[in-house]
Amino acid sequence: LSEKPLSGKRVLITGGPTREPIDAVRFISNPSSGRMAVALARAALLLGAEVHLVHGPLSVAPPKGVRTYPVGRAEEMLAQARRLFPECEIAILAAAVCDLAPERGLPGKTPKEDLPRELRLRPTPDIARELAAIRRPGQILVGFALEERERLPERALKKLSEKGFDFLAANPLESFEAEDTEVLFFSSQRPSPQVFKGSKERVALDLLREVARALCGQT
Ligand code: C5P
Repeated sequence: LSEKPLSGKRVLITGGPTREPIDAVRFISNPSSGRMAVALARAALLLGAEVHLVHGPLSVAPPKGVRTYPVGRAEEMLAQARRLFPECEIAILAAAVCDLAPERGLPGKTPKEDLPRELRLRPTPDIARELAAIRRPGQILVGFALEERERLPERALKKLSEKGFDFLAANPLESFEAEDTEVLFFSSQRPSPQVFKGSKERVALDLLREVARALCGQT
């Protein structure tokens, strides 16, 4: 593998949480930091790629040279990702997309006393499935999943096939928000996962080298 195996390739990365508005100043979200996505963006740059990062609020700044597309709701993330995906050879979906959103966001700032005591929620679009549905042959789709360690292999394999990913990077629940990480990297071509451990930067590089290898292998 050359030092810059992704040179001339475009990589789409989603990262960070989405924010699903209750009204103009309140939202439902999750504590994802976006650090893994930023590490992936840095690693993809290092390997020579043109990087497009579609992201919710991030706790760390993406490196210079990455094209960034800040978004709020899952629908906005989907729209940006759909727009960029056709031009990209690789898509890595590391965003922590909220599973549910308020059915109707309220306009303006609702006075405290008028806030509803119950919220009706609806499912958000599944960006991974939407991209899998429009993919061309040769495009590589990589998913992430956060799973309880005990059920991880079974659930990871299920997600890999159900969502149509080529690779699935599964994190044990313990590594959520952590500085370092552990990834079990499942491939649709192999029965058992590779294990990558260390800083998110380290793991991101290992993971992208593997994806680059798969991309080179098919061209
Ligand atoms: O089912 P689960 O949310 O664990 O799937 C995780 C994978 O699917 C991640 O790659 C995540 O970014 C992606 N996903 C998505 N859109 C959603 C939910 C998850 O792209 N609405």
